[in-house]
Amino acid sequence: MNIINSQSLLDYNTFKVDVSADLFKIIDNEEQLQKLLEDKRVSKQKKMILGGGSNILFTKNFNGLVIHNKIRGIQIVSENKENVKIKVGAGEVWDDLVAWTTKHNYYGIENLSLIPGSVGAAPIQNIGAYGSELKDTFQQLEAIDLKTKDKIIFNKSDCRFGYRDSIFKKELKNRFIITNVYLKLTKIKSINLSYKILKDNIATTNLKSEDVRKIIINIRNSKLPNPKKIGNAGSFFKNPILEKPQFKTLQKKYPEIPFFEESKIKVPAGWLIEKLNWKGHQEKTCGVYAKHALIIINNNNATGLEIKNLAEKIKESVYQKFNILLEEEVTII
Ligand code: FAD
Ligand code: EPU
Repeated sequence: MNIINSQSLLDYNTFKVDVSADLFKIIDNEEQLQKLLEDKRVSKQKKMILGGGSNILFTKNFNGLVIHNKIRGIQIVSENKENVKIKVGAGEVWDDLVAWTTKHNYYGIENLSLIPGSVGAAPIQNIGAYGSELKDTFQQLEAIDLKTKDKIIFNKSDCRFGYRDSIFKKELKNRFIITNVYLKLTKIKSINLSYKILKDNIATTNLKSEDVRKIIINIRNSKLPNPKKIGNAGSFFKNPILEKPQFKTLQKKYPEIPFFEESKIKVPAGWLIEKLNWKGHQEKTCGVYAKHALIIINNNNATGLEIKNLAEKIKESVYQKFNILLEEEVTII
């Protein structure tokens, strides 16, 4: 089996950090993966799974094996008048899948248009945007245990999805490689315009999923940096979720603070960071995006450590001012 030694990961992470992996292997199918896991050279190596590298910050070279998942395929497994169940290879590009579903007039994931990365990474943090999350259409996934090589099926409840969270970020972190994801979409027109900015951008509700996709793409292009041009990994931190009393105290001091009412209260980290004047802040090699305070950008060959240091300064200043401890959304390696 051809395993690459000392592979640069520069083109495999959207932060555009120049690191390398001791060992690197692209996987196209499950048989290849099983063979790789049986290979004597890799059995004792530390392993990590890499999709599109759009939610990762490498702060050092990876001393182990990087498995780059390229398992492809979109298949209809069952359908009736109302619904369609699809099986998707984890190495498919997420946004290509969304484009495929809207082209077929299926409904369910159009609000998740233009999120970078692979289908296999979508369950890891239960990707979300504009009032939708992966869990809304998710049925099950197949994954291979990197230790035992067993294939396991995870149903929705097994995955313990939460806001930017799942079991794969907790107890089962780095334990499985997801190989296929099953989604249930609807054929009946049903669009989700619950998110305020969507309502504000829409003149009629007589829209197809493809129309919603176009609107979302326009909104995202107006505020988020294109990772092909500017190194970034989207929101660096999660939006903090506060207990009501803590929120009330904050609201008393800052009556204009935006929030999303749930049982607890989610406040936009971007607002907290902007309030502390980080928006547009520039260091030698990296900075905070001028159009969105939650996005750290690499605009001059930054190292992962330089980006991490900037993130820590932001986190510390938010804590000092608001007594809120931000949690990283990006996986730091
Ligand atoms: P990677 O970065 O390669 O990996 C992320 C994590 O998943 C790692 O821990 C990795 O080991 C693990 N992993 C990846 N593939 C597998 C697999 N097959 N099996 C097991 N583990 C795996 N996210 C949102 O939720 N909503 C957004 O609106 C959003 N907008 C973004 C906008 C921009 C401009 C950017 C750059 C990022 C954005 N993101 C957003 C974050 C990111 O796109 C998602 O988290 C995406 O799902 C990451 O996919 P990936 O393939 O690049 O994962
Ligand atoms: N805001 C500011 N200043 C800023 C940016 C935002 O004050 O510089 C405030 C504004 O009040 C704005 C509010 O924050 O109305 C929300 O901003 P936005 O609509 O851009 O959304 P977000 O909360 O910053 C979240 C997700 C995004 C997702 C969008 C749309 C998180 C951590 N981020 O961002 O996901 O695309 O909502 O649903 O939940 C990602 O996860 O990487 C990501 C980009």
